[in-house]
Amino acid sequence: MIPLIPTRILGMGSFVPPNCVDNTELSKRVDTSDEWIRTRTGILERCIAEDDQATSDLAFEASVSAIRDADVRPEEIDLVIVATITPDMAFPATACLLQHKLGLGKVACFDLEAACSGFLYALDVADGMLASGRYSCALVVGAEKMSSILDWEDRTTCVLFGDAAGAAVVSKKGKGPELLGFQCGADGSDPSLLHKPGGGSRMPATSETILKREHFLKMNGREIFKSAVRVMERAVRELLDKHSMNMKEVDHVIPHQANARIVESLAQRLEVPIEKFFCNLDKYGNTSAASVPLAIDQGRKEKKFTTGEVGILVAFGAGLTWSATLVRF
Ligand code: ACO
Repeated sequence: MIPLIPTRILGMGSFVPPNCVDNTELSKRVDTSDEWIRTRTGILERCIAEDDQATSDLAFEASVSAIRDADVRPEEIDLVIVATITPDMAFPATACLLQHKLGLGKVACFDLEAACSGFLYALDVADGMLASGRYSCALVVGAEKMSSILDWEDRTTCVLFGDAAGAAVVSKKGKGPELLGFQCGADGSDPSLLHKPGGGSRMPATSETILKREHFLKMNGREIFKSAVRVMERAVRELLDKHSMNMKEVDHVIPHQANARIVESLAQRLEVPIEKFFCNLDKYGNTSAASVPLAIDQGRKEKKFTTGEVGILVAFGAGLTWSATLVRF
């Protein structure tokens, strides 16, 4: 159902650290090649944050741009949600650190963890909180320093990811693209498909867990690939059904930027021309929760989306989680 007063994106911003590492450079560090990465994933390069840059620093840069773009006063923001799986620290929430850096009021702040679906989950949550009438203007951020949890000795994962942040200021008052509907889901039956086992209450950090490299991201790439295509197709179809719409009425699909082959398979299954998909994963790799806002922000700066056109944002991630959002630009 379309909300009576849709939440609107008043402004957006994104940030990628300037240090970009291409496949050839990466192949000096791990046993891989430009040819393997390019043909299996479509990724050509990714940006890596400095050692002293944390996720909240990336989130700060994206948020400053989003607040400026939205043309709101910082004191108008009364809710901050940061979607991330690479928080500055286990607690306090990166959203609290970001609030302070931005000089916002003492407003509600929390982190949301839904991996690569996190930004779209956060939009859904923000929409509900705005609909309650208890909040009026939210800063929603997807930010990741994936390089901080990658095993740089594991060529099956470290070549895939990059660091970035994307942010949106959303409200039910004002002008901008409308969020028309949301479809979130999850299947927690097999966390080992994609996880970081060490450092939580199940496996607190010890010298042994560090030696066993348990504090890095681990992934069953093949299974994730298959699930990703299946769950994203289902989320899109369920979302459209809910709104009595079909794919012909959709002008753009902005998918999670994980792998060009996943995007191609999704396009085939949805029977949508690949030209309708916006992709920038060649430049940035998989930036997890930052991937979708970074793609929307880049697409709109390149004037790819025209006012009135309909878009679907769709993502999947560790959990497994998935989420699709319907937007009218
Ligand atoms: N360079 C060179 N060779 C490699 C590399 C590499 N970087 N990585 C793996 N290989 C080798 C493997 O060792 C294997 O060799 P073998 O046949 O001798 O054993 C061979 O390449 C094939 O490996 P596969 O894993 O079968 O390769 P596949 O075609 O499945 O591609 C990939 C792997 C790219 C990871 C793919 O499975 C994929 O994209 N999966 C989805 C991953 C994803 O999207 N993750 C993000 C989830 S989002 C989130 O929440 C963080």
